[in-house]
Amino acid sequence: MTTTDVKSSPKPQDTRGLAGQTIGDTSICQVSQTELIYRGYEIADLAANATFEEVAHLLLVGHKPSAEELKQFKDELTSMRAVDRGILEVIGKIAQCETGSDDVHPMSILRTGISLLSHVDPDCEDNSPEAELRKAKRLLAQIPTIIGFGQMSRDGKTPVEPDPNLDHAANLLWCMTGKKPSESAAKVMDVSLILYAEHDFNASTFAARVIASTESDMHGAVCGGIAALKGPLHGGANEKAMEMLKDIDAYIQAGSGDVDKFMKEAFAEKRKLMGFGHRVYKNGDHRAGILRSWGLKVAEEQGADSKKWFDIGDRVQQIMLDQKNIHPNVDFPCGMTYYVMGIPVPQYTPIFVASRITGWCAHIMEQHQDNRIIRPLANYTGPELKKWNG
Ligand code: CMC
Repeated sequence: MTTTDVKSSPKPQDTRGLAGQTIGDTSICQVSQTELIYRGYEIADLAANATFEEVAHLLLVGHKPSAEELKQFKDELTSMRAVDRGILEVIGKIAQCETGSDDVHPMSILRTGISLLSHVDPDCEDNSPEAELRKAKRLLAQIPTIIGFGQMSRDGKTPVEPDPNLDHAANLLWCMTGKKPSESAAKVMDVSLILYAEHDFNASTFAARVIASTESDMHGAVCGGIAALKGPLHGGANEKAMEMLKDIDAYIQAGSGDVDKFMKEAFAEKRKLMGFGHRVYKNGDHRAGILRSWGLKVAEEQGADSKKWFDIGDRVQQIMLDQKNIHPNVDFPCGMTYYVMGIPVPQYTPIFVASRITGWCAHIMEQHQDNRIIRPLANYTGPELKKWNG
């Protein structure tokens, strides 16, 4: 090969992190540059016309529910919301614990909560499709109870019982705050849960599938999913995105400069901007614009103090696009939206779990129904062979 050949060859694709590699089949979700589809239905269509419970049924049971099926599904979920008292007591204690540097993160509390739930689930060790569907419904129903109990304990308030008159999204808000949400807050939460429900082989779902592929149990796979989602490069980005906007606001309030100056400094320091970029979407995340418009509606109804977060966010977005050609992902508008809804920042990623549990469980079931252990190869880069005694 000549020097000219080397120069003219295309840059080899960086496949670290399995970038650009298709590693299996799924009938649950299709993610592409142009579309995001859950079992045949496009995300904008679902966000505009479906409810979260309908989407949960679509993902878990496998089809759009009839009116009768939906009623039965919702009744079942509502009846499953109560969580074992002993488990809630542990959750309450952990939530009030202070670790060396900070409070225990609600994602860690939730991970422990799911682990505890496994010990009282009669189907825990049964990986049959029927048992897994029962477990998935229980997890879906009980996650808001655990999130809410943890948050109310953190706040030093008396936790409330789940409300059977409220749908999943409204009940989640009720459990977290002890206040009945307005119709519009419940609607925005519902839409955000639809947007977060499923996303093919993202890191947390892949982690859950790897665990399931060893024929391990659903609760264990979900704990793995939670651990993966917590990271700031994945679900944890919604919290980090809002923390960044608060940093920008503090920077402006302190008279240090404007958004443009903050961004210039961030670029100079090669900082990663949370809520931007995506492994698959290079021309924008289909979910981001949908959530931004719902969040903006809430902010505009509230007035200038809330709207300012969207003004700062829009400027950050414009600069990222103009100077880096990087688009926001769903976590960017999520941060602002949940913030103007008054939700504590550390609960943003647990809320993601309250939705993504549907996608994870659908994938765990799919993996178990046509299983082969996931065990890829590694390219060894260590030292050459040598003798232990020589
Ligand atoms: N801020 C600044 N630069 C970025 C960002 C960002 N958020 N995202 C990507 N880039 C740059 C990156 O540095 C790289 O530049 P260069 O080619 O000069 O090295 C280029 O864009 C390509 O990015 P990449 O690192 O190859 O992207 P990746 O596919 O490995 O990582 C990502 C994807 C989402 C982890 C990454 O974009 C990121 O860390 N974003 C911030 C965290 C975030 O918002 N995560 C949420 C992901 S989507 C929803 C979810 O899962 O919750």
